[in-house]
Amino acid sequence: MNRELSHLKVLVIGGAGYIGSHTVKLLKEYGAHVTVLDNLSTGKQYLLQGDDFIEGDLGDKDLTSLIFKKYKFDAVMHFAAFSIVGESVVLPLKYYENNVAKTASFLEVMIEHNVKKFIFSSTAAVYGEPMRTPITEDHPCNPKNPYGRSKAMVENIMSDSLAADGLQYAALRYFNAAGADPCAMIGEAHEPETHLIPIVLEVAAGRREEVKIYGANYNTPDGTCIRDYIHVNDLAEAHILALNALIDGKDCCIYNLGSGQGYSVRQVIEVAREVTGHMIPVTEERPRAGDPAVLVASSAKIRKELGWQPKYDDLKVIIETAWKWHKNDRKAGR
Ligand code: UFG
Repeated sequence: MNRELSHLKVLVIGGAGYIGSHTVKLLKEYGAHVTVLDNLSTGKQYLLQGDDFIEGDLGDKDLTSLIFKKYKFDAVMHFAAFSIVGESVVLPLKYYENNVAKTASFLEVMIEHNVKKFIFSSTAAVYGEPMRTPITEDHPCNPKNPYGRSKAMVENIMSDSLAADGLQYAALRYFNAAGADPCAMIGEAHEPETHLIPIVLEVAAGRREEVKIYGANYNTPDGTCIRDYIHVNDLAEAHILALNALIDGKDCCIYNLGSGQGYSVRQVIEVAREVTGHMIPVTEERPRAGDPAVLVASSAKIRKELGWQPKYDDLKVIIETAWKWHKNDRKAGR
């Protein structure tokens, strides 16, 4: 279903972040005109890939009204969320304000300007502790933390707005986004870093002493948590397919995005040793609160309905691309 997007104007909010910047790059490769709105609270100027950049907040209604008047967008992709589970437990209101309240006020402005195609970054965290794996989209949503709840709330808001306003939307439930574009000019850079693969690579690069393994007695073959790592470019491609589906008239697309293959924390570290040629020392720590033992997606629905096919479904390749970016990024002194 991939097709030229050269007639399209797309607004990407949060386009200066990790997944946003990769999707902007791909949108441009398909020929779309891309405007990025980002408040740079976690996004980085050096990740910007769009045609235009507006520094500002999605909750600033005066600004977003002006932007909608000026550009006449065909669609919006929304990546501008806080996404650290542990932080969301300590600062829930920060998450509800940014991820929910500001998104609702943004949608109001968007609908007022008659823009009704919306692609939203959701998360595996909407499911909570899985009752069965691999997780399919009809698994009950019972999020266990404010981050997951904030995303589930927006999914409900979008569903209500579909009924009331004719909003067409896609909710893409990401599992563990990882890797970097092979150009190695953009990649994953969070401060503070909490994600496993970048932390492992920081240890390989000598910037940290060791990887702390959070929990070594889970009910899994090697005792460590199992996750489904999906390459960021495969995620980006799914956004293009979802956009095309909305253009073709589909009004609600809810899809899991994962590779369907689970790897334990120890397996990730082992592959990273092989890729980097470094030792990567580890210590075993207590489990992190709220971490499910196993999170693996079934992405059969998006494969079947939209023909999505991940290209980077090998963990070694995912880590190789992340490592190449990591070395370039450090060379740039960041
Ligand atoms: N881990 C470690 N040591 C570390 C960092 C992580 O052992 O230093 C472990 C975690 O305990 C977990 C696994 O590595 O078992 C992966 O952890 P990440 O922090 O990389 O990712 P999560 O699975 O916790 O989180 C991801 C997304 C979230 C999303 C969640 C869905 O980053 O946004 O999946 O549950 F909410």
